[in-house]
Amino acid sequence: MSKSYKLIQHNYDVVVVGAGGAGLRATFGMAHSGLKTACLTKVFPTRSHTVAAQGGMSAALANMGQDMWQWHFYDTVKGSDWLGDQDAIEYMCREAIPAVIELEHYGVPFSRTDEGKIYQRPFGGMTTNYGEGIAQRTCAAADRTGHAILHTLYQQALRHNAEFFIEYFTLDLIIDDTGTCRGVVAWDLSDGTLHVFRAHQTVLATGGYGRAYFSATSAHTCTGDGNGMVLRAGLPLQDMEFTQFHPTGIYGSGCLMTEGCRGEGGYLTNSNGERFMERYAPNAKDLASRDVVSRSMTIEIRDGRGVGEYKDHIHLHLEHLGAKVINERLPGIAETARIFAGVDVTKEPAPVLPTVHYNMGGIPTNYRGEVVILKDGDPDCIIPGLMAIGEAACVSVHGANRLGSNSLLDIIVFGRAAAIRCAELVNPNGHSHKELPATSVDKIITRFDKLRHSNGDNTTAELRLQMQRTMQNHAAVFRTGDSLSTGIKLLEEVYIGFEHIGVSDRSMVWNSDLVEALELDNLLGCAMVSIKSALNRKESRGGHAREDYPDRDDGQWMKHTLASLDINGQVAIDYRPVHTYTLTDEVDYIPPKQRIY
Ligand code: FUM
Repeated sequence: MSKSYKLIQHNYDVVVVGAGGAGLRATFGMAHSGLKTACLTKVFPTRSHTVAAQGGMSAALANMGQDMWQWHFYDTVKGSDWLGDQDAIEYMCREAIPAVIELEHYGVPFSRTDEGKIYQRPFGGMTTNYGEGIAQRTCAAADRTGHAILHTLYQQALRHNAEFFIEYFTLDLIIDDTGTCRGVVAWDLSDGTLHVFRAHQTVLATGGYGRAYFSATSAHTCTGDGNGMVLRAGLPLQDMEFTQFHPTGIYGSGCLMTEGCRGEGGYLTNSNGERFMERYAPNAKDLASRDVVSRSMTIEIRDGRGVGEYKDHIHLHLEHLGAKVINERLPGIAETARIFAGVDVTKEPAPVLPTVHYNMGGIPTNYRGEVVILKDGDPDCIIPGLMAIGEAACVSVHGANRLGSNSLLDIIVFGRAAAIRCAELVNPNGHSHKELPATSVDKIITRFDKLRHSNGDNTTAELRLQMQRTMQNHAAVFRTGDSLSTGIKLLEEVYIGFEHIGVSDRSMVWNSDLVEALELDNLLGCAMVSIKSALNRKESRGGHAREDYPDRDDGQWMKHTLASLDINGQVAIDYRPVHTYTLTDEVDYIPPKQRIY
């Protein structure tokens, strides 16, 4: 098959797929240590979804009050509802401090205190002294922190001569007979050529799959491409049942109103004008963790206390902060609210609704970024040559629920960790690439060609909408066995429908019809393992709230789900144990307890 397509060959030490914050931090770190590094990205690097991250990046710098990374560790373990791996959480919270200082030195234009230190704001679930006070831990560049970080990292990567392959859509991983990842095959969207990239390490930094849902804060490009590749390689994804709903997506459009709004003193009200979070989280109130706030908002709406004509959303108030604070600290969200809700937040509340924001699940890795599976009884068996970082990965530092501002942290710390690990594993230009097995690339091209020439009756747009509505309605903030089972039946119909898809554009150059079909294939795999993992987990934990199993069940379920998918859409479930140990004795393992804010 590959004979009919000319394949352009490339040899690299490392190939990074994705140029968001994680991909760029890894690419730049690898190039800096002398590795011949290629970064493949389907959009221009500074258009990656990290650009939309608003509120900030957590690190216990103690610039604006007492703080310790051990408190950050405690908050993150509690936020994860005890599903996070505590060795990885220790690594992330400790390394947060040097990682953010490095960013400052690379040139990230953080907002400043009067003394010239990095400005830090409160964020949900971030506390002092093991839950006693509210921490100011989230390092911010106004409400455009992701934008600031992304631009700085791209400049640093260019400065260190990383090579970029921009608007290249990566099709699949090349896995050899020993199960080692040997690189990827990618499609250059701009000129239609196909490329084989051989690498000693392949790093997936492809982001989340928020677009499996109808309403998401994620960019339309967040289509779980790396996760799809991993599933097609026969490897499992971990904890895919845990989807985060951000409490404050703009009603209707789903655009993000940063948690920084509440960090700066904003609050939520129902149709009675009541600050209802005081009832649900008496201490943290509006700054409880996201799963708690999203559930509380959903209950208020269900109980008839929503606002608006249809009583189907909630009000977010910022007016009391005054125009000066809003314009200085939250200028982006003032603009977003004006454009997408027609609201002047200095004068009136913004209409908001919990909106899909983040996937806690993803490709299982250790804290160095190496992909791990359960094999022959070893739950931490490394897949040679394959790494994953950022939202595509499940390290697992977020467990069942991620704390706000721990995502920009995750992408930087683990992008950096992957660069450090690659420098240990790969000898720059030290060894040549072995021949690839004949069939490995052919298989990838055959799938691509089949989809390119598909001529069924179903369009990508119709199938995608069915999938998105199914996930939105049946794998929502609250779930039941019945709603999930109905969702699975509907999703199976979409899955079968994909076999009869039709792509009308056969060209190789800028064929967005084909790109969207490939993206839908990736999304469908993610959606299927998510909803089946959700039906399988019979307890409530973090972002997974089962009304038919309302309690957390540590005896049965304090374990990671591993879900793999066969070509017929059948999901096989297995488990890995949660890491109930730390890396050092600078911090102790925190045993599970009741989670109250
Ligand atoms: O609300 C926000 O600014 C989002 C931050 C995050 O998801 O970490």
